[in-house]
Amino acid sequence: MPIIAPSLLASNFLQLASECDMLNKSAADWFHLDVMDGSFVPNISFGLPVIEQLRTATTKVCDVHLMIEHPEQYAEAFKKAGADILTVHYEACTHLHRNLQQIKSLGMKRGVALNPHTPVHLLADIIQDIDLVCIMSVNPGFGGQSFIPQTLEKIRTLKQLIIKHGANTLIEIDGGVTLENAKSILDAGADVLVAGNTVFKSADPIATIAALKAL
Ligand code: DX5
Ligand code: ZN
Repeated sequence: MPIIAPSLLASNFLQLASECDMLNKSAADWFHLDVMDGSFVPNISFGLPVIEQLRTATTKVCDVHLMIEHPEQYAEAFKKAGADILTVHYEACTHLHRNLQQIKSLGMKRGVALNPHTPVHLLADIIQDIDLVCIMSVNPGFGGQSFIPQTLEKIRTLKQLIIKHGANTLIEIDGGVTLENAKSILDAGADVLVAGNTVFKSADPIATIAALKAL
C-alpha cells in the first residue's frame, strides 16, 4: 500500500483546523508541508509558526519539504516546530552529507529532494544515509502543475540504485499526482505519493485519499 501525503499548499488556509480534522479522519499517512523562501524557489508559502500550530491539530506524520537556501540554519527550529521528516534540496546543499547528519542527530528522518533536471545517480554515494528521496515531478514552487513524464524513468533508475546498495530509502513523488497517473507512478517503484490539488480540490477529499491509498 502506498503512503499518501496530502500537501497543505492546496488547502483552504482560512480553514486550517477543519482541513486538519478532515485529514485526521482520512486514510492519509503523512501531512506534506511545503516551505518556500522566495529565493530557492520563486514563491513564498508558510513557515515555522504555522507548522508549530498545525502540529497540535494533526495526528499525521509531519513531512516537511524545505524549498529554502541554507536549510542547516533552520533544521533545529523545524524539529522544535514538530517536523518528523525533514527534506532538503540537493541543489541547495553544498554539504549535503553534513546536512543529513544534522537532521539525523536532531531525531528526524532525512529526506533529499531532486529538481526535475537533477539525475538520481548523484545520490549513489550517500543513498544509505537517506531515508527518503523526493523526486520532484514538477518544478518546485507551485501546486497545480502537470506531471513531467520523464519522472517515471527516474523512479525506475532510483529504485535500482536503492536495491543495488541495499538501502531502505523510500521514494516520494511530488507534483502533479492525479488519480489517473498514480498507478503508473507506483508501478515504476514509488512508495509515497504527495497530492495537493488532487486531494484538497476534489469534491470528497476523504474519498480521494482512500482511492489513492487503495491503488
Ligand atoms: C511544489 C510542492 C508540492 C505541491 C504539489 O513545489 O513541493 O508539494 O504542493 O501540489 P500538486 O499535487 O497540486 O501538484
Ligand atoms: Zn512538496
